[in-house]
Amino acid sequence: MDADTFVERYQVERRNTDSLKWDALGERFGNPDLLPMWVADTEFRAPEAVLDAMTERVAHGAFGYSMVPDSYFEAFDAWAAARRQARVSRQWVRFSPGVVTSFYWMIGAFTEPGDAVLLTTPVYYPMHNAIRDTGRRLVTSELVRDENGEYGFDLEDFERTIVDAGVRQWIACSPHNPVSRVWSEDELDAVLGICAKHDVTVVADEIHQDILPGDRPFVAMSEVAGGRYRDRVITLSAVSKTFNLAALAHSHIIIHDDALRARYDAWTRSHAELGPNVLGVVAAEAAWRGGAEWLEALTEVIRRNDATFRARVREVAPTAQMPPLEGTYLLWLDLRDYVRPDEMQSFMQDTCGLAVDYGEWFSPHAKGFVRFNLATTPALLDQGVEQLVNGLSGLG
Ligand SMILES: Cc1ncc(COP(=O)(O)O)c(C=O)c1O
Repeated sequence: MDADTFVERYQVERRNTDSLKWDALGERFGNPDLLPMWVADTEFRAPEAVLDAMTERVAHGAFGYSMVPDSYFEAFDAWAAARRQARVSRQWVRFSPGVVTSFYWMIGAFTEPGDAVLLTTPVYYPMHNAIRDTGRRLVTSELVRDENGEYGFDLEDFERTIVDAGVRQWIACSPHNPVSRVWSEDELDAVLGICAKHDVTVVADEIHQDILPGDRPFVAMSEVAGGRYRDRVITLSAVSKTFNLAALAHSHIIIHDDALRARYDAWTRSHAELGPNVLGVVAAEAAWRGGAEWLEALTEVIRRNDATFRARVREVAPTAQMPPLEGTYLLWLDLRDYVRPDEMQSFMQDTCGLAVDYGEWFSPHAKGFVRFNLATTPALLDQGVEQLVNGLSGLG
């Protein structure tokens, strides 16, 4: 299926469907008429395989307590094998209603109030909230940007921060939202080696692992150096980002190590005993079994949107930095050469009519950056980029 066919077949109007992205604009941005390019979901219906499986399950009509079938784990592992990801064994997997919920659970299970938890910033803002909300100390190590605009870990700062603050846990993002890095095995080996040296537990948020518009292959943290770090890595994943299923509230916590898993299980018995949502289970299995072609076409749409966006922005803002889009469908744009950071919100909303994610949500050092969601139709993308370009052209 080519990108045009995909768009024609799967695009869907989300306005007036209680969509957070479209229908909360008034509440979140104070203007219901903005064009939304913020929250990370897409304008596309899920693959037929998913809709058919869910329809069949709903038609059955009984929603009593259910189990997760063996076929679910077979499909999960087969998908991972086909995409050269970390293989999955049933006994390692636990469930949660979402990766954000899992941040809270991982902090609860593996740290104590007052402990230091590390983020490599700029990074997905619910991670910051989870650390603060649970009474832990939020500690950050800022990523560094090279001359090509690509981000990397600052290894010296990473280690110094861990030692100085006595960090107990690192919540990592891989691929990294918002800078769209797909970390190489060497990069991961270096940071995980430091975590091992200082006995830091690693929570690896790998929710974006299937969305790879660039050339770099995804490497799971649990697989780095032949699985050397499995005794400290806990992986969070879901099919929700990939197949636009976030509202089904279904995600995975994968723990390879027996001792870590026992600790987590003991914690859940007293805090979070909860079975998975049956429709989430049905949808995920169907997506693994029948969603590969859909995903390939979506990825092509993202690539094209990325190329269009960059080319148009460069015409009017040649020094605006944008790191290459290796993973995720989120483009990180540094507009500080053009817009005063303090005026960014009014520029985006009042001048351009756009709802985006602002840099300071991801790091206090990223004011003047914005994050655009590229997983939309080419028509909406064109509209959004034209609104941005017009705004930039009008600057004095
Ligand atoms: C890095 C990252 N983690 C987690 C989530 C959300 O996960 P969930 O919807 O499962 O809570 C997102 C959504 O944008 C994300 O970008």
